Amino acid sequence: MSPQPQSAVGAPLSRVDGRLKVTGKAEYAAEHDIKGAVHAVIVDASIGRGRIRSIDTRAAEKHAGVLRVIHHRNAPKLPYRDNPGSNNPTGRRLRVFQDDLVLFHGQPVAVVVATTLEAAQHGASLVKVAYNAEQPSTDISKAEPGAPVPYARGDAEAGLRSSAVRLDLTYALARNHHNPMEPHATVARWDGDRLTVWDKTQWIVGTHDEIAAVFDLPSDAVRVINPFVGGGFGSGLRCWPHTIVAALAARVTRRPVKLVLSRKQMYFGTGFRPAYAYRLRLGSDRRGRLNAAIHDFDAETSSYETFFEAAGAPGQMLYSMPNVSQAYRQVPLDVNTPIWMRGPGFATGSYVIESALDELAHELGIDPIELRRRNEPEEDPSNDLPFSTRRLRECYTVGAREFGWDRRSQQPRARREGDWLIGMGMAAGVYHSGSNAAQARVRLDADGTALVETASSDMGPGTYTSQTQVAADALGLTMRAVTFRLGDSLYPPTPPHGGSQTMASVGSAVLDGCDQVRRQAIELAVGDEESPLYGVNADDVVVRNGRLHVQGTPARGETYKSLLARNGRSHLEARGSYAGPAQPERHSISAYNATFAEVAVDATLGLVRVRRMLGVYDAGRIISPKLAESQAIGGIVGGIGQALLEHTVTDHRDGRIVNASLADYLVPVNADVPEVGVIYLDGDDPDGNALGVKGLGEVVLVGVAPAIANAVFNATGRRVRELPITAEALL
Ligand code: MOS
Repeated sequence: MSPQPQSAVGAPLSRVDGRLKVTGKAEYAAEHDIKGAVHAVIVDASIGRGRIRSIDTRAAEKHAGVLRVIHHRNAPKLPYRDNPGSNNPTGRRLRVFQDDLVLFHGQPVAVVVATTLEAAQHGASLVKVAYNAEQPSTDISKAEPGAPVPYARGDAEAGLRSSAVRLDLTYALARNHHNPMEPHATVARWDGDRLTVWDKTQWIVGTHDEIAAVFDLPSDAVRVINPFVGGGFGSGLRCWPHTIVAALAARVTRRPVKLVLSRKQMYFGTGFRPAYAYRLRLGSDRRGRLNAAIHDFDAETSSYETFFEAAGAPGQMLYSMPNVSQAYRQVPLDVNTPIWMRGPGFATGSYVIESALDELAHELGIDPIELRRRNEPEEDPSNDLPFSTRRLRECYTVGAREFGWDRRSQQPRARREGDWLIGMGMAAGVYHSGSNAAQARVRLDADGTALVETASSDMGPGTYTSQTQVAADALGLTMRAVTFRLGDSLYPPTPPHGGSQTMASVGSAVLDGCDQVRRQAIELAVGDEESPLYGVNADDVVVRNGRLHVQGTPARGETYKSLLARNGRSHLEARGSYAGPAQPERHSISAYNATFAEVAVDATLGLVRVRRMLGVYDAGRIISPKLAESQAIGGIVGGIGQALLEHTVTDHRDGRIVNASLADYLVPVNADVPEVGVIYLDGDDPDGNALGVKGLGEVVLVGVAPAIANAVFNATGRRVRELPITAEALL
């Protein structure tokens, strides 16, 4: 078929759901109201490890409005069937109210259901739980790590010994929490043996399957609905215990139940980016050619599940280097299980490598960009696959020019403005371009409008809008004529809305479905004696604004409307699909960036202000430039948080998170965010998917923290090897 003219794809369009969001009409999980719904509030364990000795619920049950208090002594036993297709890490998932064990501070030990939220909250405060408390282990530096996940190529020990220049660096990265604006929430309703759940999730299918597994329900007895997500950053990538608690409470009370986590509960009721202790030994020659790296890194996990993320990946493939070894050790602690957070793993590994490269550049007196250029691989050194597209060199060139990199002094602490030391830094970033099987239903109606449905989510990147752009061009319709729906498990299945894979996966399925429907219409027309297109080669027909015509001869054609009406067709429809990446993969496909930062550091107070940021991205084809820019700004803001502010603090005496609030856990606010420049390189990636996209939601965060850390060094001459970089560390 003729390629379709592209007018929506590539256009800087505003969000199709923007009006709904700014007028408050977009309905988030906690806003879903059902007549007769009651409220549930979880009672959190107040010890970090041990057993529940007794639960006294009498005062709570006497409180006006309280219907039930459910806990391990009276809760029904739940099947907790295995769920092999899930995102659950290996291990044994937390089973709510099934035994007396307390595995972490804040674990749900009871739930109070009441007719009003206030009654449920007060009832929860009246539940008296007595424990046999044990000393929890929550400090990664003092706990016993698990067996290492190894990686090796060449001989890293020998390579390091024979290197002319050697660095031995130890980094500490704080635990981070996602802190989306929307709290996690679940509304659960049983209709006989069927369960409907409105739940904040980034994976409709995953939440659906987990609920079916936990309650041992047939697949079609569970429905999960979630049309809007108020931010996620990864916190919604698995089904958390509170969702099960809500469904359980609804079953026990035979009432629809609404359960909303408090902001405090978001710090232990959902996951987090784990803290890391990371030692990197790096060897190069005197000209900066990397020869060997030994990565030893420990990361938090829970006592009951072993969380994995791709923290080792950048060290395996970002630079050309013959000898690499890695030992990734997960450290089981008395904490809840971590989860992926924006740029998962890659943000951690890249921070370490990019900081170390800056140290090496300083040591050798080589410009940091030049050092990176000298180690640019010609093919992926981790698997010897050719890169599909890797335009990192271009990112450096464009970034250096646009940021004014030539104004940077190679000598640290060389620029001062009054009390402020000024410095510039840069870093490279990478994120693997993943995708997974997805499906989409496409229907073109006789009135010339189309409906596209998938079970995807839109946590904020603008999936509604960008998928509408893809569909509009593939169908030859205006944006207005296409309605895109998501967020319902009745729609065709899609992978997790995370890992920057939604456009590659869901977008490919949408494209396929729309291509099929357009082809059906074209074939109908060219075979229809009454059509002006009768007898035309189907390959020569394109569709524009709902009208089919011969390519190059716009006068010869007709509209979808007239075609369908004359043929007595109420609609045309197709199920689009995307099978996932070709196996075995023949290319190494990743998105890349070069990120630049300029900071000012108060010479006496150690205060860091980010003055300018620029990100230059090689992310393949950009479907929706305005949304892509917004993603990059968001990624840079998140990276500023990781670099300078975000730090979940645990009291190791009892495992309590001490800063579980937005007053005490610092995230960037407007005053922390400077002028941000965003440049996406033009072009597409021909090898991964039909859309030519490489994903951009994660890569925009990777590289931000090391760019800032390197700028802080350039400003002050002080190297802080921990995140966040605090004023105290700079004093
Ligand atoms: Mo993100 S960690 O891909 O939700």
